[in-house]
Amino acid sequence: MFRSLLILILLVHDIFSKDVVLNFGGHNKHSHGNRAKRQVIIRGEDQDQYKWPNNTVHYYFDEENFDFSMEETILRAMEMLSSHTCIKFSTEPSDVIIRMESDSDSNYCFSEIGHVRENQQFSFTSNCYSVGLAVHEIIHSLGFMHAHQRADRDEYLHFVMDLDGMSLQDRQQYDIWEHQILLVPYDYGSVMQYADADDNYFPINKNRFMYQTMGSEVVAFYDYLMINKYYECSCGHDAPKCQNFGYPNPSNCSQCNCPYGFGGDDCSQRAEPGTTLQATKEWQNTTISLDAGFRHVNHLRMRQIDYIYSYLWIMAPENKTTEIRVLQSVSGKCLRGCGRGAIEIKTNEDPRLTSPRFCCNESKTVRSSHTPTVVMAYNSEGLNEYTIAYRYVDTE
Ligand SMILES: *[C@@H]1O[C@H](CO)[C@@H](O)[C@H](O)[C@H]1NC(C)=O
Ligand SMILES: *[C@@H]1O[C@H](CO)[C@@H](O)[C@H](O)[C@H]1NC(C)=O
Ligand SMILES: *[C@@H]1O[C@H](CO)[C@@H](O)[C@H](O)[C@H]1NC(C)=O
Ligand SMILES: *[C@@H]1O[C@H](CO)[C@@H](O)[C@H](O)[C@H]1NC(C)=O
Ligand SMILES: *[C@@H]1O[C@H](CO)[C@@H](O)[C@H](O)[C@H]1NC(C)=O
Ligand SMILES: [Zn+2]
Repeated sequence: MFRSLLILILLVHDIFSKDVVLNFGGHNKHSHGNRAKRQVIIRGEDQDQYKWPNNTVHYYFDEENFDFSMEETILRAMEMLSSHTCIKFSTEPSDVIIRMESDSDSNYCFSEIGHVRENQQFSFTSNCYSVGLAVHEIIHSLGFMHAHQRADRDEYLHFVMDLDGMSLQDRQQYDIWEHQILLVPYDYGSVMQYADADDNYFPINKNRFMYQTMGSEVVAFYDYLMINKYYECSCGHDAPKCQNFGYPNPSNCSQCNCPYGFGGDDCSQRAEPGTTLQATKEWQNTTISLDAGFRHVNHLRMRQIDYIYSYLWIMAPENKTTEIRVLQSVSGKCLRGCGRGAIEIKTNEDPRLTSPRFCCNESKTVRSSHTPTVVMAYNSEGLNEYTIAYRYVDTE
């Protein structure tokens, strides 16, 4: 009968995004004893209640209230999701359907969580702009909450925010929800993780270098996997064997979904475009240049709605440690969340997890004990050039 109505609002300034829950349904706080604590990031007690049937999201653009300059952003976001998961998007009429608008009064972006009702709300404006933020909103529509609202977030974030002093509406973007299933590990680089705009929550201890990485508009490997697990998307037995922690891609079972930096149908190759370099005992330098150009809209020069990427594979002999030092990065891109471009050195042992990103001009040496070490650069605006130095040393 009564379905809780939950609306999230994403308010985006240049460097941070902020969701606000507008309306709060009746029964998120109840639980019925025998259910184990679960989460992903779905709400409600019945984990299937808010799933889209047949993995198909129905939507239409409201002709009167949608800003069609944002149509390409939304369609690309859908294309990214449908090419990595079994989720499909359909403009066929349906009882439950998303009405896409651009709420120009608030300039907010928001979405209801999951498959809810006829003409359910979704707003996307030019303030939000990027494909990554459109993916964020659509992932809400698929039934998921924010990463920093996961049941395990206190193991990853040190919250100093005064939640009790906040309005209910604000709180609902930060509170841990009761009914959750955790389907994937915590990833600070999730597109569902807010940047820490006001020094309110920090990655704990050893993860402190993940600070800039929070607030990412790059869709994480684990974001797609979370969707595939919840919607039970999979491939049959003849799917290819995937290397380097990839898994068969439910949208095309002849390919794999690969961690960033790996490619080819089975993730055994270097992702393109890219270069492979051999580390030596001596420091060597290399410069990565990524020219994203600009998007021209009504004579305005804007950043692109999506990123371009390039990859390095830095090879070292077996059992050696690779050291990589970022010597110089790009001015004007030092933003929380590194939304305009950054370099990420994949030091994490699990290549599926996001590693620390660098978008400020800081000189830092990082170490990796695997080979290849993937260095990923991405950019959405003009020319970015990053200079790094690399070598190998004996493993201690
Ligand atoms: C799901 O797909 C089946 C078979 O194609 C169809 O009969 C059914 O109506 C679909 N359900 C919805 C809710 O679209
Ligand atoms: C699926 O992937 C294979 C292997 O990369 C490719 O040849 C094929 O065109 C893809 N199919 C579709 C429908 O995209
Ligand atoms: C690498 O770049 C740094 C800083 O630009 C410079 O000091 C150093 O000499 C360079 N090293 C090599 C081997 O080119
Ligand atoms: C690397 O380390 C492993 C485990 O300690 C050892 O078995 C192997 O022989 C080492 N390889 C080389 C080339 O040193
Ligand atoms: C980055 O810092 C280096 C060393 O402090 C400096 O030489 C360089 O000009 C800076 N680059 C930018 C783009 O700010
Ligand atoms: Zn959100």
